[in-house]
Amino acid sequence: MNSLSPRPGVATPQASTSSTRGLHVITWGCQMNVYDSERMSDVLRPLGYRAVSTPDAADMIILNTCHIRDRAAEKVFSELGRLRKVKEARAEQGAATVLAVAGCVAQAEGKEILARAPYVDIVLGPQTYHRLPEMVARAARAAGAVIETDFPVEQKFDFLPADRAAPAGGSAFLTIQEGCDKFCSFCVVPYTRGAESSRPAQAVIDEARRLVAGGVREITLLGQNVNAYHGEGPDGRTWGLARLARVLAGELGIERIRYTTSHPRDMEDDLVAAHRDLPQLMPFLHLPVQSGSDRVLAAMNRGHTADDYRTLVARLREARPDLALSSDFIVGHPGETDADFADTMRLIDEIGFAQAYSFKYSSRPGTPAAGAGMHVPEDVKDARLQELQAMLRVQQDAFNDATIGQVAPVLFTGRGRKPGQVSGKSPWLQAVSVEGPDSLIGQIANVDIRHRYTNSLGGVLTEETDRA
Ligand code: 5AD
Ligand code: SF4
Repeated sequence: MNSLSPRPGVATPQASTSSTRGLHVITWGCQMNVYDSERMSDVLRPLGYRAVSTPDAADMIILNTCHIRDRAAEKVFSELGRLRKVKEARAEQGAATVLAVAGCVAQAEGKEILARAPYVDIVLGPQTYHRLPEMVARAARAAGAVIETDFPVEQKFDFLPADRAAPAGGSAFLTIQEGCDKFCSFCVVPYTRGAESSRPAQAVIDEARRLVAGGVREITLLGQNVNAYHGEGPDGRTWGLARLARVLAGELGIERIRYTTSHPRDMEDDLVAAHRDLPQLMPFLHLPVQSGSDRVLAAMNRGHTADDYRTLVARLREARPDLALSSDFIVGHPGETDADFADTMRLIDEIGFAQAYSFKYSSRPGTPAAGAGMHVPEDVKDARLQELQAMLRVQQDAFNDATIGQVAPVLFTGRGRKPGQVSGKSPWLQAVSVEGPDSLIGQIANVDIRHRYTNSLGGVLTEETDRA
C-alpha cells in the first residue's frame, strides 16, 4: 500500500496546444490505482491528452481516489475544493477544465460527490475506465467544447448554397442531421463528428421544395444517425424524422423518400407507422445491427439485444410487408468468440437481408474497443468475414431472383454501362438497366424485370409507364 499523499500520475510537463490537451492525474492509494491512472492516461492519449505536471496547466484533471483509510471522502472533498479554485481561475482565462473523480471513493460516493461538488464533470468507478473517452467527449460537449477539430454543424449547413442545383438524375441527397451520441465501442464518429445535431425542419423543407421544383423525384435524407433527427419545427416544437417525412411526402409532391443511416434504438413507433402510411417512403431500410450476439452487442455499447432487433424487424415488416433490409456487420470485435459469431450467422439466417456491408473489426485509436484487449487474430477475422459474406451473397441473390418476373417502377438516374442503355433504381434500391432513350433519365418508368446479373438487374420497359 502506498501513502495517501498526492502525486502526479505521469511526469513530463508539456504545454497545452490546440491539438494537444493537458492531462493532470492525481493518484492516491495502492499500486492498483497507479496502474489504473496509467490506463486512463493511455485511453486518453489518442484524444490528444498529454501529461502536465500541474493542475493549472491541465485541460483535464483526474483525481484517482482511495477508500482504504478513514475519512477518505473528507479528504477528497477538501482536494476537490482546491481543484475547484484551479478550474475557476482557468475559466477566468477562458480555458475549460474537465474535472473527473475516479477510483474507489468515486465508486462508493458518486452521488454525494455530484451533489456536494457540482463543478465535478465526471465521476467514474474502476469498472468504467474504458469508457473514459466517451465521458470526456460528453463532458467537453456539455461545456461547449469540441473534442476534435471540426467546424460546428450549423455553420456547415449554412455554407450549403441556397440555390443548389437539382441533380440531373432525379435523385438527390439532403443532409438533415450530423454527429452521433451513441458511442459504439469501435466507432470514431462521436469523437470526430461531434454531438448529434439536427437542421431545423423548415430549412430541410425549403431545400426539398427547391429540389422538387428542379425536377427531383427522390430525396434521400442523410445523417450519421438520421433517425435520431430532432429538428426544431416551424411550430416551435421538436420534430422527429417521422413528422418530417410526413410533411415532405404530403406537401411537396415528392415521389420517393429514403433515409440513411438509422440506429435500431431510434426506430420510434411513429417512424414504423410512417412506413405503413406513406407510400413515398421506399420499402428499403438500411438498419445496421453489427452483430447477432448479445455479449458482443453489449461490448459494442449498442444499447439493444439481438432479440430487440428481431422484434423491431417484425414490426417494420408488419407495417410494410415488402420492406427489404440492409445492414452493416463487424466481425472480430474484441472478445468475439466462435459462439458469438455463430449467433450473428443465426441472426442473418433468420432475418434475411437484401444486401449488406460487412467489415473486419479494425482498431481506431481513441475508441474504447481499441484499448479493450482480447483482440481477435487476423486469420480468424478473415475466415469469419468470408463465411458471413458467403451467406449474405446467397441472400442477396435470392432477393434479387425473387424480383424476376415482376414489374417495378424504376427511377432512371443515368446512362447504363452499354450504349443505348439507361439505368436506375427500383424501390428496393436494386440497380436496374434497360434499353431505352436518354430522355428517361430523371424519370420513373415501369420495368419488367427479366435478368439478374452479379450486382444488378436487367429488364425491359413496359408499355404502361408512369411518365416516360
Ligand atoms: N472497424 C470495423 N468496422 C467499423 N465500422 C465503423 N467503425 C468500424 C471499425 N472500427 C463499420 C460499422 C458501421 C459502418 C459505417 O462502418 O459497421 O456501421
Ligand atoms: Fe454512432 Fe453509428 Fe458510430 Fe455507433 S456506429 S457510434 S451509431 S455513427
